[in-house]
Amino acid sequence: MVKLDPNAWWQRSDLCYQDNQLFFAGRTVKQLAERYGSPSFVYSARRVEANLTRVRQALDAAGLAGRSSIFYAMKANRFAPLLQFIRQTGLCGIDACSPNEVKHAVSCGFSPSDISFTATSLSKRDFAELARYDGLFMDCDSLYSIRSWGELKPNTDIGIRINPAVGIGRACNDKLQYTGCKTTKFGIFREQFDEALALAAQYGLRVTKIHFHTGCGYLTTELNQLDHVIDECMRFVDAAPDVNRVNMGGGLGVPHLADDPALDLDQWSAILNRHFAHRDLHVEVEPGDYICKDAGLLILGKTFVELKRDTLFVGVDAGFNIAPEPAYYGLPFQPVTLSVDDQPLAKTTVVGNINEALDVWYENALLPDLTEHEYLVLINAGAYSSSMASNHCMRGEFSEFLLL
Ligand SMILES: Cc1ncc(COP(=O)(O)O)c(C=O)c1O
Repeated sequence: MVKLDPNAWWQRSDLCYQDNQLFFAGRTVKQLAERYGSPSFVYSARRVEANLTRVRQALDAAGLAGRSSIFYAMKANRFAPLLQFIRQTGLCGIDACSPNEVKHAVSCGFSPSDISFTATSLSKRDFAELARYDGLFMDCDSLYSIRSWGELKPNTDIGIRINPAVGIGRACNDKLQYTGCKTTKFGIFREQFDEALALAAQYGLRVTKIHFHTGCGYLTTELNQLDHVIDECMRFVDAAPDVNRVNMGGGLGVPHLADDPALDLDQWSAILNRHFAHRDLHVEVEPGDYICKDAGLLILGKTFVELKRDTLFVGVDAGFNIAPEPAYYGLPFQPVTLSVDDQPLAKTTVVGNINEALDVWYENALLPDLTEHEYLVLINAGAYSSSMASNHCMRGEFSEFLLL
């Protein structure tokens, strides 16, 4: 008989069972569920700060203290109290990818000069709106965007988002690869780079940054690819005489499954050291996932427990539309009970309340009989969940809370 492991893989000091009750950010999750109801996202401010601090320390350990910056990718989670909190830590700027994100970041206390802007397929209207923010730094990802920005802001500095045709992302998940396996829309390829530099020069644009975001969710197992990715990107740096900074994008991942090896930041830092310690470059990173994902829980109310054929289903009162990563990207969010007891476990499939076949939160999770449970929580719901939510089936309502 399998019993719930009180030392389950996802536990850490601020998310764990104590006296058989699930604790998160210093509170029992039962208390949070009773106070906030379902569906609710709860975010731990301290965990976000700890994640940012870890990345800062890794950059310092790479020998990049004083010549490196973090830009939090707000597409991961733009909840205003969270952005305001992040602003107050003073640990990072913002990576934004739409005019409305810039507006929102500014309303949360960031100044345009704290914002690095990297986007794709911007309209002329978008460019005009962005040009009004003095100090905003633009990374152009196509010849079209160099032309459009050059017309509005000639004789300024820009970055070029490149596509090195190699990438790094969570193992075996090609949906998370932005560059590499196939030709994607992201960035300028090597064969068009000279044309891009010449075009920039026509508008008096000085290319001072090379930007490469090549994939998402990488863990320790994928780190060997990072060496290769950076090597390829340095070929662009070497071909652009005014470049004084690189932006490595985001992509740092967190474990989703028991067998996932947590990202070893010492190894990550050693790779950065090898590539950048001897170069006169400022190094930027713009993580989203790594900063917020494991700082968030999604509290869900249980609706039903029923065996259908050979599958035991547990229903909850919210679906994939408010946290689409499991359905879109096949990234499972581990379901966790609010308490542990001695009950045997059974393979259980957790499903939501949306009339779509892909509305499955988790298949075959080992869970106790949930008949008497009122709530269930999903971990790793702090990034790319609420920020990607839709109102599909008119079930787009949820609450969000920042726990200080
Ligand atoms: C340009 C850019 N930078 C940063 C990020 C953040 O990536 P992650 O959340 O994987 O760290 C993304 C995500 O897609 C991106 O497109």
